[in-house]
Amino acid sequence: MKKIIKINTKSHNYRIIIEKNSILKEVLKEEKKQKNFIIIDKKLLSLITKLKKNKNFNLIVIQGGEKIKSLKYFEDITNKLLKLKIDRKSCIIAIGGGTIGDLSGFIASTVLRGVRFILVPTTLLSQVDSSIGGKNGVNTSYGKNLVGTFYQPNKVIIDHSILNFLPKKQIISGYAEILKHAIIKNKNFYFWLKKNYKKITKLESKYISTAIIESIKIKAYFVKIDENEILINDNSRAMLNLGHTFGHALESMNNYKRNLSHGEAISIGMCLAMKISCKMNLISDSEYNDFILHLKNVGLPIYDKRIEKNTIYNVMMNDKKNTQNLINLILLKRIGKAFYKRGLTKEKIKSYLIK
Ligand SMILES: NC(=O)c1ccc[n+]([C@@H]2O[C@H](COP(=O)([O-])OP(=O)(O)OC[C@H]3O[C@@H](n4cnc5c(N)ncnc54)[C@H](O)[C@@H]3O)[C@@H](O)[C@H]2O)c1
Ligand SMILES: [Zn+2]
Repeated sequence: MKKIIKINTKSHNYRIIIEKNSILKEVLKEEKKQKNFIIIDKKLLSLITKLKKNKNFNLIVIQGGEKIKSLKYFEDITNKLLKLKIDRKSCIIAIGGGTIGDLSGFIASTVLRGVRFILVPTTLLSQVDSSIGGKNGVNTSYGKNLVGTFYQPNKVIIDHSILNFLPKKQIISGYAEILKHAIIKNKNFYFWLKKNYKKITKLESKYISTAIIESIKIKAYFVKIDENEILINDNSRAMLNLGHTFGHALESMNNYKRNLSHGEAISIGMCLAMKISCKMNLISDSEYNDFILHLKNVGLPIYDKRIEKNTIYNVMMNDKKNTQNLINLILLKRIGKAFYKRGLTKEKIKSYLIK
């Protein structure tokens, strides 16, 4: 069944189309409208073969991965587009995971000062999270996502049948972001996830589509209220960053290697945010333990020894949310309600986490 979620932001209104087996049909609709440049993940072989038959699509095939979220790839692909004579009416269609989406969105927002942009996320993580909300960007040696723009797409096409060949590690990585959405905003969704996680991660149609739709609704709620992450209250878009200050630091310390996926890093980050919330008596020991048990059942990591080192706290100082040399964290007031905890020192955070 087709489901459409409308996103109305101050800058732009667009539709997220959620429908099984819809990718080719939706992409082909663009064929005659304008000059199209498709940036697509190398792994999507059958889709590449089908799209190649169409002369009106200029295909740029790249291997998705954190490595491509760099200024070097940004420059190389932008030059390729200019060489292929992209014009201001052209459309960039990104088909791939979050890394292809983030890089392509940044390019779409800057080349010729901005062209039409369509996102076709093909990993669970990108379907439930990164394709919604218009954030894009690349990493630098100073940390993750430090260069980029806010640029809403013109359309998002979500088809969960493309997930069938996604490795299990990637499925549970996406599940971590679904879980994050639940615990920051919707307690009942969290309980539903705990009950149905096996069917969701086995991609049973009814369950995976509900998980995707509910997750998008939560992300859309924050994006609509606070498109450019300006608010500093509990409605701030920053709530979506629960677990990310730790997670991004871990990914950076791991040099973005594949052994620790984004979702896995966020899983560890969420455990740490939960632990601090528990130490502050905001959530109970049993709620904390129950959460950890759920992550273990799903197969997500819950700890990383690097938490015991000082380096991680120094890396965390580069987080975009920080102000005046103090760390601002997103924590839980209770399950289903996140809040902004501002002005923590490195030492204070460490004291919560290390006995
Ligand atoms: N912009 C945002 O708001 C936002 C939000 C969350 C995460 N992110 C970013 O998203 C990125 C992670 O995204 P990701 O997990 O999708 O990573 P990814 O793009 O690296 O994809 C993961 C792997 O899956 C492969 N792949 C993609 N689609 C496939 C398919 N259908 N079948 C088989 N393999 C497939 C890719 O080749 C890659 O090896 C991170 O850089 C993170 O910072 C951005
Ligand atoms: Zn994330």
